[in-house]
Amino acid sequence: MRTVTFHIKRYDPARDAQGSTRVQSFEIPHGGQLTVLEGLFYIQEKLDASLAFRYCCRASICGSCAMYINGRYRLACQTNVLHLHTDEVRIEPLPHMPLVKDLVCDMTDFFAKYEYIRPWLIRSSEAPAKEILQSQADRHKLNMPIDCILCGCCYSSCPSVWSEEHYLGPHALLWAYRFEVDSRDEARKERLPMWDNERGVYRCHTITNCVEACPKELNPTEGIQWLKMAAVRRRLFGASK
Ligand code: SF4
Ligand code: F3S
Repeated sequence: MRTVTFHIKRYDPARDAQGSTRVQSFEIPHGGQLTVLEGLFYIQEKLDASLAFRYCCRASICGSCAMYINGRYRLACQTNVLHLHTDEVRIEPLPHMPLVKDLVCDMTDFFAKYEYIRPWLIRSSEAPAKEILQSQADRHKLNMPIDCILCGCCYSSCPSVWSEEHYLGPHALLWAYRFEVDSRDEARKERLPMWDNERGVYRCHTITNCVEACPKELNPTEGIQWLKMAAVRRRLFGASK
């Protein structure tokens, strides 16, 4: 039986001063295949039931278990300790986010900014009797942004978010892009003022940490650059796209 040691950054508002964290180490036995999330379950069930972390799907599609593991943004359920090539694993909550407890961050602002861009299809014309058809080319435009699982890694990694609390962030702008390029959406005029401002795309300085951080290998920067160009085109030519 092999063992791996998890060094976990912990914070308990009931016992730690605000902003003060400590690192606690746990040894975990495993038979060769162990995800970081499974290791956290082992700790919670056998060693310390007070350890707090989020998870849900265990299949890399809910985004709940995003953490900072051995110096990189990762999903705990997707990270096999064997692939870390070390028996020492440092686990921290998403950096630069307010902490609730241990590995659980406060995602209130993150989701409020996501909701702000109205991330749903808006139609003004009468609902069709059948589904709204799309060409293959139009559907292709959605391939990248619809894979976003709202894990928060890009948001946590972005220096523009750290320095400007009102900046919408790469996730919200990626979703703004997702509806801008959706041929079925009919609210481009109403959507424009949401992101065509200092709180939106112009606060992005193309730092690209968001691309590096994304565990789904998405490219929020590409979406933001597309939105900037769309805004300029609309100002110059009044085009609908
Ligand atoms: Fe997570 Fe990537 Fe979506 Fe950002 S763009 S929230 S890193 S899946
Ligand atoms: Fe931030 Fe990504 Fe722009 S890291 S500054 S949103 S390119």
